[in-house]
Order: sequence, then C-alpha cells, then structure tokens
Amino acid sequence: MRAAVFSYLAIAAAVGAHNPRQASSARVVANSVTASSARVAASSAPIASSAPATQTSFSFTLATTNPTAIPLASIISNAATQTTNSLPSTFAPGSTPTVVSGAPPLPNAALLAPSSYPALDIVVPTDSPEVQQWIQDVASSGVSIPNISATVAGGCPANLDAADDASRCWWTCGGCTRSTDITTCPDKLTWGLTYDDGPSPYTPDLLSFLDQNDLKSTFFTVGSRVISYPQILQYEYMTGHQIAVHTWSHPSLTTLTTDQIIGELGWSKKVIKDVIGVTPSYFRPPFGDIDDRVRAIAQAMDLTPVMWTRISPMATFDTDDFDLHSGLTTAAHVLLNWDYIEGNSTIIPTGFILLEHDLFQQSVDIATGYILPDALVHQPPFKIEPVISCLNKPMNDAYIELNDNSTNPPVVSGGGVPTLSSGAPGSVEATGSSQGSGSGNSAVSTPPGSGPVLALVLSLTTLFL
Ligand SMILES: *[C@@H]1O[C@H](CO)[C@@H](O)[C@H](O)[C@H]1NC(C)=O
Ligand SMILES: *[C@@H]1O[C@H](CO)[C@@H](O)[C@H](O)[C@H]1NC(C)=O
Repeated sequence: MRAAVFSYLAIAAAVGAHNPRQASSARVVANSVTASSARVAASSAPIASSAPATQTSFSFTLATTNPTAIPLASIISNAATQTTNSLPSTFAPGSTPTVVSGAPPLPNAALLAPSSYPALDIVVPTDSPEVQQWIQDVASSGVSIPNISATVAGGCPANLDAADDASRCWWTCGGCTRSTDITTCPDKLTWGLTYDDGPSPYTPDLLSFLDQNDLKSTFFTVGSRVISYPQILQYEYMTGHQIAVHTWSHPSLTTLTTDQIIGELGWSKKVIKDVIGVTPSYFRPPFGDIDDRVRAIAQAMDLTPVMWTRISPMATFDTDDFDLHSGLTTAAHVLLNWDYIEGNSTIIPTGFILLEHDLFQQSVDIATGYILPDALVHQPPFKIEPVISCLNKPMNDAYIELNDNSTNPPVVSGGGVPTLSSGAPGSVEATGSSQGSGSGNSAVSTPPGSGPVLALVLSLTTLFL
C-alpha cells in the first residue's frame, strides 16, 4: 500500500489575522452563479484546540490519494476556477424512480418558475399565502412550540443567558441534543456521508467520483440552490442519494422568529417536492444551530434533525472544509481535521456523521482528491452510506409521502430527554475565547481562523510502504 506522509509547513502570512472573538463577523458566501449573500453565523461551538492558534505546521497521514487530485497547494481561497463537468446524465420528465417504491413520476425541471418562489439567499418573507398556510398547519399540528426567545447574531458570547439556559437545549453552545436528534450512525465504523449547501456547479464532479466508487450520500440542499440547479437535484435523487432539507437561505434558525423558521423550512420542502416529486423527512439546521423551539417547529413540519457527531463539548466531526473557499483555513488543516476524525472514529462505540460541503470547488477537491480516497482504503473498512441507510431504514423513509411509518414512525410530541455526548448543555467553557469565525462549526481538531490566515506549503514526502 502506498502511504503518503504529509508534513506541511504553513507560513503565517500577514494577510489579516482573524480575531476569534469576532464571532458575528459576516461570512460572505459568493456563489459563483447566483448573487453573493452575506451569511452571518449564529455562533460556533468552541473548537477543540489541540493545535494552538499559533501553530503553523501540521503533519498528518493519508493511506492514499487520488492520482488525479488537485495539488493541495492549489486548494486555496483564490484558486483558479476549474472546468466543471456536466452531469453524467439527466432524467426525462415522467421517469419513474427505482430507488424508492411508489414514488410519483419525476416532475419536469424545465417548468420550474423561479418567480413563483422567494428571492434567493435572503430569509423568506412570512406574509405570502404559502407561509401563512404553513403557519396554520403548524398551529393545528398538535405540537406545542415552546416560548423560547430568538437569539441574536453573534453566537454564544452574544447570548450568554441563552447559552447558560439548559432548558433550551441549544446545540450551538455546549452540544445539547435531544433523543430525537440524529447525531451518529448506530453501527461502529459506519459513516453517514453528508454534503451540505448544494447543489452547485461543482456537485457533478463529486457525483462522478461517488458514482465511480459506488458511494451514495445524503445531500442537505439549500432551496436557493435547488432553484438554480434542479437537474442536479433530480440526478442525486434518481441515482439513489438521499435528499434532505437545509432551509431556503441558510440562516441561523435560532435567530429567526417562529414564522420565519416555518417559512424557511416550508419553502425548501416545497421546492424540493416541486423538483423531485417527494418531500424530505430529514433536515439539517444550518451551522447546527438548533434549540427546542426549532426542534418543535421541525417536528410539526415532519422534519427530523440530523446533526454531525460530537465527541466532546469542544470537538465535533467537522472537517472545516467550508472555510477553504474564504481562506479561513488551509487544505493541510482540513486534512489534519480529517486525520483526527478518522482516528477518533475508530475509538468511539458508534458509527459517525461528519460535516462536509459541496458548495465550493475547494471542498469538492479535498473530498474527491484526498478524504474519500483515504476513507475508501481505511482498515478496518468503513461502511459509507447515506444517513437514512446507516440508520438501517429503507430509502422510502427519507421522504414524507413514501414513508409508511412502519420503520420510521412520526416523532411523538415532547422531544424526549436531553442527551449529551458529554458536558452540560450550555456549558460555556471557553465559548468566548475560541469562537470560530463564521462557519459555526467546530472542528474535531483545530479552529479555523484562530490564527493568522495561513499560506501553504513547503514539503511533501511520499513513502512507499
Ligand atoms: C481525536 O481528536 C483529538 C482532537 O479533538 C486529537 O487530539 C486526537 O489525536 C484524536 N485521536 C485520534 C486517535 O486521532
Ligand atoms: C405517517 O405519519 C404522518 C404524520 O403523522 C401522517 O401524516 C401520515 O399520513 C402517515 N402515513 C401513513 C401511510 O400512515
């Protein structure tokens, strides 16, 4: 087996040291096709900081890499735009899905009229007839929405009382979860593969790699992207990936009013149904930003939350690949995170879910060039599959209209008891000091943007073992 031991010396370039306390700093997500949108992270959980903020060198081991991988030194913020591949195929309107049973024929994506939907990448208005109807539906669902105040932008440091209020069970500050949250795959060495924020122009590259390696994923898709790339969504669905909801405009849900949350979930459910014919029954809150109010609204709307695995109040299975595009982290740092995740995944008693993205070229490049090839030769082998499959449920259960409730019964009102991976909910240790920069995501290893922006790359040694 070929093993590559990478030792990267990243030079601290004085390109704007990031102040880790500026948790509320806006993160601008420039989508290459649609208008840029400013996204303000609610917050991030404190990040396991095994590498000090000043660390400038990382070393990690990969068992193998993709021979056609983009060099790590080119996976940088201002990377040259690569040629994107087109979809391997498209599906004709009226096609019958074979990966689920009893599904309606595939809608005609060409008929999707963006003017019938809210503006892209901003929180949806709540005065439309659609949202008003969904508000009524939630009110008559029988689920009571707790009277929890919205948080303000800025995460834990800006919301100390809320962060300390265990009764909210706010995941962002301390990692509180309820028994109804999906946080892991039950079976050891099983990986619920997920990609967030697409579809994007780079998604077909990821899909091609997944096809070649017979892998299926869960895609947490943003309604504003679905509008732009409906055929990619159809391809994902028709080829056996799991489609799930990731809101309309990717806001921090705890900062919104209840009506806005209903609108964000409702419109993303609707556009997905309009494109593939069925409605997802799972969703992931952007930035993992969920509390008991958001949980109750989601439950009333038949959506089950999927988080990513957290092994301590300070460490989650987040590759931090999202921050490659902005330059808040480096490819070497992401691979160090991956190295730690891989190591920890073999220690924990369950399987795992980690956070990755298909919105940007850099995230797809690191996934297809490095993380996935390395994962595919892991010993003992990982079982890599969509979240619904790792839960040992049929793909039909991933969609509201196809779920017969036999293996995926509706959640009983009440939300269950809090379950914590460790630490107390809202434990705010160090929340003020290691606040991440905007992804809202803590990494299992080392914080993005906790030091100067780093530039790569000095040395690479390849060993043949
Ligand atoms: C687990 O993750 C921690 C960082 O949270 C890291 O220090 C440790 O080395 C990892 N363990 C393994 C076996 O990779
Ligand atoms: C499954 O449960 C949901 C939510 O209670 C309900 O709306 C739906 O009709 C049920 N489906 C079946 C096939 O019973």
